[in-house]
Amino acid sequence: MRLILRTSYDRSGCFARLPAEARTWAYTDLHDQLPARAVQRPIGPIGVRAVVYDRYGPPGVLRIEDIPVPSPGANQVLVEVVATSVNLSDWEGLLGSPLYARIGGLRAPAHRVLGSDIAGRVAAVGPHVTRFRVGDEVYGDNLALMGGFAEYAVAPAAMLAHKPAGLTFAEASTLPQASAIALQGTARVQSGQRVLVNGAGGGSGTFAIQLASLAGAHVTGVDNAGKLDFLRALGADDVVDYRRTDFTRLEPFDLVLDLVAHRSVFAYRRALAPGGRYLCVGGAVPTLLGVATIGAALGLVTGRRMGVLAVKQGPVHFMPAAELCVTGDLRIRVDRTFTLEEVPQALACVGEGRALGKVVVTTQGSKPVT
Ligand SMILES: NC(=O)c1ccc[n+]([C@@H]2O[C@H](COP(=O)([O-])OP(=O)(O)OC[C@H]3O[C@@H](n4cnc5c(N)ncnc54)[C@H](OP(=O)(O)O)[C@@H]3O)[C@@H](O)[C@H]2O)c1
Repeated sequence: MRLILRTSYDRSGCFARLPAEARTWAYTDLHDQLPARAVQRPIGPIGVRAVVYDRYGPPGVLRIEDIPVPSPGANQVLVEVVATSVNLSDWEGLLGSPLYARIGGLRAPAHRVLGSDIAGRVAAVGPHVTRFRVGDEVYGDNLALMGGFAEYAVAPAAMLAHKPAGLTFAEASTLPQASAIALQGTARVQSGQRVLVNGAGGGSGTFAIQLASLAGAHVTGVDNAGKLDFLRALGADDVVDYRRTDFTRLEPFDLVLDLVAHRSVFAYRRALAPGGRYLCVGGAVPTLLGVATIGAALGLVTGRRMGVLAVKQGPVHFMPAAELCVTGDLRIRVDRTFTLEEVPQALACVGEGRALGKVVVTTQGSKPVT
């Protein structure tokens, strides 16, 4: 296998540019290393099924296609994907909006296959990878390379962790990005503080509510009316329907964690108690820029802190959440699972705000491409 990795790896990370006979040889050899379940469906010279897109747009721009088997580089791992959870960032990457979703690909997507939060089995490792072996069950945040909406994906070994036995692949796939956001967003919460989570019914918000509640805070969750009972069930003390009530005119909070920022910095400043902190994670670009500049200055002169949370990635940032899930202190809510063929619907479910908690795409049960 090491010989193949050295001889077949090309700059695009695929076997695609090899001559046909070399490709067949490479796939055959790779195929020999795959776990039993994968061997039942030979990869063959054509490749693996993936949901691809070549231009930004609505879910209709997605199609299912056979692509070359991705080849792991020296410090990378080839994962046989079992489950990939959908994040709002996938939807943003599909649309190419907000503008930050085009970083690395201003006119066309930088990666043809979306899907960053993967869980599956190691199918091959690069020559410098020592932490994982073929057959290991892993999960992780593959935001830099994406590729999770496919049967196989390549990920940097540094972004993966061993999947806890107590979590299913679907459950593990919900954690990397969403729980890292929630853990970092609520890291400084103290008992008795008043915490508000805006956009609380989505992937990150459902973890953030629970973590703030575990820390002993009084938690207010903001989302649309259809999600408010769900927020209460997760531990929110108060809930707010954003279509009816402007949370910035409620009592001031010690922490506002905003997953969908789109208001003025002055409105957000109004929502903060003295010494309070406003952290936005995602939302409209003008708002994010305003918070990072005017908001930061406004916070300083008024005794508050306002800023954009640059979320750190990697196992160290999501494994604590997995441990809490295994002990039962943190609950994972998978709203729906979809097949590879249903990725457009899965993305729309999240992007159009219909999901309660997380949506997961599973490669099992997917039909062969016609
Ligand atoms: N800063 C970083 O480093 C970093 C890293 C990764 C990701 N991100 C960003 O972090 C965010 C994570 O979001 P997520 O995955 O938790 O999203 P999500 O699962 O889509 O949840 C967002 C929730 O907000 C609700 N919502 C929509 N508009 C709202 C409004 N005006 N007021 C209150 N709630 C509203 C949505 O419901 P309805 O639409 O039904 O109302 C949904 O329940 C994304 O924007 C992503 O791009 C940031």
